[in-house]
Amino acid sequence: MNNKTVLITGASSGIGYELAKVFAEKGYNIVLVARRENILNEMAEKILKCYGVKTKVIQKDLTKINAAKEVFNEVKKSNINIDILVNNAGIGSCGFFHEIELKKHIDTININITALTELTRLFVKDMIERKQGKILNVASTGAYQPGPIIAVYYATKAYVLSFSEAICNELKHYNITVTALCPGTTSTEFSKNAGKCDLKNAMNPRKVAEIAYDGLMKGKKVVVPGILNKFLVFLSKITPRSILANIVKKIQSNAIFKS
Ligand SMILES: NC(=O)c1ccc[n+]([C@@H]2O[C@H](COP(=O)([O-])OP(=O)(O)OC[C@H]3O[C@@H](n4cnc5c(N)ncnc54)[C@H](OP(=O)(O)O)[C@@H]3O)[C@@H](O)[C@H]2O)c1
Repeated sequence: MNNKTVLITGASSGIGYELAKVFAEKGYNIVLVARRENILNEMAEKILKCYGVKTKVIQKDLTKINAAKEVFNEVKKSNINIDILVNNAGIGSCGFFHEIELKKHIDTININITALTELTRLFVKDMIERKQGKILNVASTGAYQPGPIIAVYYATKAYVLSFSEAICNELKHYNITVTALCPGTTSTEFSKNAGKCDLKNAMNPRKVAEIAYDGLMKGKKVVVPGILNKFLVFLSKITPRSILANIVKKIQSNAIFKS
């Protein structure tokens, strides 16, 4: 037990679920945030039994206005100090921008950008006062490319990467590190929910979580898990963006359900 507490959004499945287990194994108390309360409660029970750390479940839909503030207030009401903030919850939709319901785009922006920014702003104040803290923001390799057929999602992840790198620079004077995690395709519920069926070369979420944890502890600015993803990010940096857009369009078109 190290008596530190990590708050993880999107802890009920995929990368967030695995991150919660990795942190519990290292002795962190955990605040678990997502919509599916039953899964979070089961997890909290398992974590307590296996690792003996404290857990708190906060059921919240992060697409809703004020959701971040409500999470912050619940944490404060419980007298918990957050030492590490993990903004992991994220959604996306595949398809042509004009064919996807506007509400889906707005929900994507609300959770991937607005909630992440609000939670960071709310929790960082205390970290600054304590002159100590760590923030892990989950972006994507898609942050490095324009994303035809998944335009809003890639654009939100470009925001997450840029925002994280910027505040990383600002906050280093307060002994706070900010790490942007940029996974490539990972075997989670994400692809199914986003309408993708192609999981070729997908990484295991446990592996992604372990790499993320190591990078966060080392205070790395950006973590790209996996050699293939690192290579793709390198190629993205040296390829003209109009060519990148055509490549992504082809890949995404092949990946979506053709029902
Ligand atoms: N999988 C990939 O290929 C991949 C690649 C690059 C980046 N990422 C990023 O990795 C992060 C984690 O995704 P994942 O792959 O682990 O997907 P996942 O298995 O679908 O997990 C998403 C998590 O976010 C939560 N969530 C979804 N909508 C929510 C809402 N409205 N309010 C609160 N929580 C919500 C889900 O819980 P509930 O449903 O219980 O709310 C779940 O715990 C995301 O930011 C994603 O963009 C994923």
